[in-house]
Amino acid sequence: MKVLLIGSGGRESAFAWKIAQSPLLTELFIAPGNGGTSNHGNNESIHETNLQGLADFALEYNIELIIVGPEAPLVEGIYDFFQNDATLKHIPIIGPSQEGAMLEGSKAFAKSFMQRHQIPTAAYMEVTMDTLPEGLEFLESLPSPYVLKADGLAAGKGVLILQDLNEARTELLAMLDGKFGNASTKVVIEEFMKGIEFSVFVLSDGVNYKILPTAKDYKRIGEGDTGLNTGGMGAVSPPPFVTEAIMQQVEKEVIKPTIEGLLKDNIVYKGFIYIGLMLTPEGKAKVVEYNCRMGDPETEVVLPRIQTDILSLFISLQDGKLNEHKLDIIEDTAVTVIMASGGYPEDYEKGKVITGIDKVTESIVFHCGTKKDSNGNILSNGGRVLAVTSLGDTWEAAVEKCYKSIQYIHFDQQYYRRDIGTDLR
Ligand code: AMP
Ligand code: GLY
Repeated sequence: MKVLLIGSGGRESAFAWKIAQSPLLTELFIAPGNGGTSNHGNNESIHETNLQGLADFALEYNIELIIVGPEAPLVEGIYDFFQNDATLKHIPIIGPSQEGAMLEGSKAFAKSFMQRHQIPTAAYMEVTMDTLPEGLEFLESLPSPYVLKADGLAAGKGVLILQDLNEARTELLAMLDGKFGNASTKVVIEEFMKGIEFSVFVLSDGVNYKILPTAKDYKRIGEGDTGLNTGGMGAVSPPPFVTEAIMQQVEKEVIKPTIEGLLKDNIVYKGFIYIGLMLTPEGKAKVVEYNCRMGDPETEVVLPRIQTDILSLFISLQDGKLNEHKLDIIEDTAVTVIMASGGYPEDYEKGKVITGIDKVTESIVFHCGTKKDSNGNILSNGGRVLAVTSLGDTWEAAVEKCYKSIQYIHFDQQYYRRDIGTDLR
């Protein structure tokens, strides 16, 4: 089977690694890929949202399956683009329809979906400039802190959590006035939920679903969860505090109603659903957000725990036969530690030569932001550069392997958190 994988981050490096293990694979292409994906297939320099370019490539190379890593092509409607073209519709796409991708592309859409299908989440109100007085009234009725969310995609920066009511009022106005461009002409005001966050990943064929390994990521740049938010500086799967009982509640109150809700609303969804959850002090999990894709760096700990052939799972999505497949999960804990460029998530330099990856024996080194130069050197090419993943029979053992492996790797101005997993103690 000829497969095209779309994306260029650590998530795609992990997908490429996993797909390359499939006996069903004949050829793998990654568009545009990175310095690590090319170890598992051919990188093609087509931008992830160049839908026509991706379609032309898929036809020319007789691609039989497309896996979409990031949200942008999904929110742009890659699924519908292929479905609505007679020459392309035979090529299956792993990822939801454009309407399904709105679970991530529009916070207001996601909240009304949850409300309609009685899925536990924070109370909210959707506000535009026209409904500002009602919005302010709702804001004033909530206790501090205040959660304001740009409705649309805002490069991960569209959520503000503010302690002070006056500041929240000012920010609400600024958002509606275009602080995040068109993404914030509509704002969702939410009740703040206390608790610990974790993520659940579901693969669905639109009717059946499989619950993939759970994970927790470390979003802040600094140790002890301090400093600026990032795309994620590390992850653990499974988080030990997510008990069987919690997962039963999540399946009954969140996963089942989500899949049934998509069906009831006639939303075509054959792909991954990433459910961000808050485990509240009462011990109940509530939804923080949906994403229409896998998480990054969570994929780098989820996929190494899946034993099942991933291409056979993907093929079963097309015939609606996911239920006939067994998902084999490795019991071990997986931990990933991100090695980043100094300065990230603010300004940082690229193009640093990375050495020592070949000396690592106890971990898998996934590439996030790297490229290969013409001499075969691996250079840093992004904020997050590498994800060093290890499996261990305890999370302590996995963490220890990660930090041991990192000692072999070097690039100028490298930075990583030294406390990934230590809060689990
Ligand atoms: P989101 O993009 O909706 O996941 O929001 C980004 C982050 O903001 C989440 O991962 C949470 O840490 C935090 N957050 C969002 N909504 C809430 C909420 N209602 N209560 C508490 N924290 C929240
Ligand atoms: N790690 C967070 C995300 O993928 O959105």
